[in-house]
This record gives sequence, C-alpha cells and structure tokens, in this order.
Amino acid sequence: MIKNKMMNAMVLAFGLTGGGVAYADNANPLSDAVSQGHQLFTAHTFGGPGRTCESCHHAGGQGLTVLPNGVHKPSIAGAASYFPRFNPKVGHLVTLEDQVRRCVAGGLQGQPPAYDSAEMRNMIAYLTSLSQGKTIDMGGRPHE
Ligand code: HEC
Repeated sequence: MIKNKMMNAMVLAFGLTGGGVAYADNANPLSDAVSQGHQLFTAHTFGGPGRTCESCHHAGGQGLTVLPNGVHKPSIAGAASYFPRFNPKVGHLVTLEDQVRRCVAGGLQGQPPAYDSAEMRNMIAYLTSLSQGKTIDMGGRPHE
C-alpha cells in the first residue's frame, strides 16, 4: 500500500518533468536534495577547520581534483557511475557513502555524516546528479 503510494508519487514526479531531467525541476524532493547537496559540497565544512569538498574537487566536483600539495587528479564527476569499487588501501569495497565519509574525515578533518542522515542523502543525490547520463561502468576508472 505504502509502496504503491510511493510509486505513484515517483511516476507523478518523473512524469511531469520527462524522466531524466527531473532534478532540474525545483519543485520536487529530488531536485531539492540535489541543490542542498550542492550547497553542502561547496559551502559546508562538517565541523572541520575550513575546507569544503570544493577546496579539492573544483567547480562543484565537475572540474579537476587538486590536492593541497598541488597534485592533480581526475574529476570526480563520474564517481556514481563506477562506485562501489574495491579500494586496495582500504581492503574492501567502498561505496559512494563510504567515500564521502572518508573525504570528510580525511580531506575536511570534519565529522562524517551518518549513513542514515539527510546530509548523506543530499550529498549522494548531488554526486549522482554529476554522473547523469554517464554509462554505469562498475569497477571502472575516472575519466578526465
Ligand atoms: C583535501 C582534499 C579533499 C577534500 C577536501 C575532499 N576530497 Fe574527495 N577525494 C580526495 C582524494 C585525494 C581522493 C582520491 C582521488 C584519487 O586518488 O583519484 C578523493 C576522492 C573522492 C571521490 C571518489 C572519486 C574517485 O574516483 O575515487 C569522491 C566521490 C569524493 N572524493 C567526494 C568528496 C566529497 C563529497 C567531499 C566533501 C565532503 C570531498 N571529496 C572532499 C581529496 C579530497
């Protein structure tokens, strides 16, 4: 019953906006989550000394990753298309949520958001929006 209601709501939300571009419509929960995630990504320090995600992952994550020591890495924009993946440094599969927590603890030196938190959901919605239209490539690598 509840499941049916949710499905109806989803059909309605996606039906109104034409599927894949639903997140561009400001009047639904998905686009709200994406824009709140964008806000977190560009402006939130998670209680750390001052860095945001954007301090390293430039242009809201669409640009290059530039580490504090000047080393350049590829953009994270496609991350949702190749996560979860095995991280040999960690020794097990790392989900996008795990990676967010790692970057908050390490990169921001802040308090990682709980898995079941609005912050985590919004951040994952935003990161996934960056991969919109990209082909799922499990175990793949970042592209420039
Ligand atoms: C101090 C720099 C720094 C900050 C700040 C930072 N990260 Fe990262 N992030 C990294 C590094 C280093 C990697 C690993 C990239 C690599 O080795 O290719 C990474 C990887 C990622 C990846 C996976 C991309 C991939 O291909 O491995 C995601 C997603 C990500 N970060 C999200 C975030 C989010 C969300 C935030 C903010 C909460 C954040 N990062 C803050 C340095 C940072």
